[in-house]
Amino acid sequence: MAGIDRKFSAPKGISDALPHKAAVVAEATSFFSALASLYGYSPIETPLLEKTEVFERSVGDTSDIVTKQMYTFEDKGGDSLTLRPEGTAGVVRAFVEHEVYKAEALPWRVYYIGDMFRYERPQAGRYRQFKQVGAEALGAPEPEADVEQIEMCLEFLGGIGVASPKLVINSIGDSVCRPSYVAALGEFLASAKVHDRLCEECRQRSVRNPLRVLDCKKAECKKATEDSPRTLDFLCEPCRSHFEAVRAGLEAIKIEYRLDPRLVRGLDYYTRTAFEVISGGLEAAQDAVAGGGRYDGLVELFGGPPTPAVGFAVGVDRSLSAARLPESQVTTKRSLPPAVPSFAPGGFSPDVIVVEIDESARDAALLLASRIRREGLVAFVSPAGRSLKSQMKHADRAGAAAVAVLGPEELSRNEVAIRLMFEPDDYERKQVSIRLEDAGKAVREMLYGRSNEKGTTP
Ligand code: HAM
Repeated sequence: MAGIDRKFSAPKGISDALPHKAAVVAEATSFFSALASLYGYSPIETPLLEKTEVFERSVGDTSDIVTKQMYTFEDKGGDSLTLRPEGTAGVVRAFVEHEVYKAEALPWRVYYIGDMFRYERPQAGRYRQFKQVGAEALGAPEPEADVEQIEMCLEFLGGIGVASPKLVINSIGDSVCRPSYVAALGEFLASAKVHDRLCEECRQRSVRNPLRVLDCKKAECKKATEDSPRTLDFLCEPCRSHFEAVRAGLEAIKIEYRLDPRLVRGLDYYTRTAFEVISGGLEAAQDAVAGGGRYDGLVELFGGPPTPAVGFAVGVDRSLSAARLPESQVTTKRSLPPAVPSFAPGGFSPDVIVVEIDESARDAALLLASRIRREGLVAFVSPAGRSLKSQMKHADRAGAAAVAVLGPEELSRNEVAIRLMFEPDDYERKQVSIRLEDAGKAVREMLYGRSNEKGTTP
């Protein structure tokens, strides 16, 4: 056989992760799995290839991703397939295809770790194959879900050492109020003094999909649209109050953010909350380490029932380049090696579901769930807006070990009622009231005793 007379290299924009880098990526993704589990998320794997229309429909046929960046080909059977450019569309397709909404208690919380493919101009922080970790909550209309996801995203970025992650948020309205915003934006972009300053591509976008003009990274387009109408001025009442509740929730758990009325995100499926996390450690054109938001209409677009949803994804390669990582894997710090791991398949159930009796407990509930997670327990806020009875039923169905009930009465005493969902040996332990500040540690002790190891729920 003739020898190969030249060296091969990986395709442009696609690189190897040699052992040192691969070990860091593996560590980061397993940290994400552990974190997502604490928030009550289960893993999902969807295929790398989807039918092309899955992305055309959801990401949007005027988006940059669909018009320029997809790896699309016809397979031998003549079907048009595309290497996934992002993870949300596949998750929603799976949710509808398997009629998950019929079988499972919603919200359906899932997380994924996987490679995405976009034919972009490669440069530092921008690759044609890159890894994302992401999470989606389907059937979660309440603002608490947005807040918990943002918290999880920032905790991941902080945990892997990303330099000064900055959260930027906006609300882009829904199918009720967005049309009047888009009309006003279209009118603004059509005025000669703006239109003439836009790049050729944005002139076309301004007619086909005006929102996309606001994503253009070119300095002249950014400048020309500086005074464009603001989405926030056009929100209908339900969108406005949802956004206010998201902001109040973020403030309650002390997450700082910047409002950016121009943030519309580059994918068409978003409604209401849109957010990005920017890192000071990266170049401006590629400084977004994470992005996400609501997509309340997407499940219906795929033929499912109305199912409000929210999600985010973090670019692993990009966020690791924005992180302060040790130069070498050799460490002088030694700790006792863990026991040989064993294969233990199976699902998991939450430790604590935090139930709000009414909206007045919303912020305290977010704070409490956060506190409980800091003790290493799986905790999240129950889907709000339902009766106490139906929330208790939901907790039971989800297999929660305990619920933490918060209402105006508990709050006035600065307490929370912890109710065990199993019968303890000592019946007095079944339900106890605990000061809010002490609740994290106390509930851990109630479920797992005083040991440092989280064992199995009694
Ligand atoms: P996205 O903003 O397109 O959102 O991507 C999320 C993150 O993936 C970006 O913030 C960035 O860190 C990383 N990323 C994107 N393109 C590249 C690239 N070419 N090279 C390296 N990293 C890149 C989504 O994908 C949505 N699916 C997020 C979401 C989930 N929204 C709701 N649920």
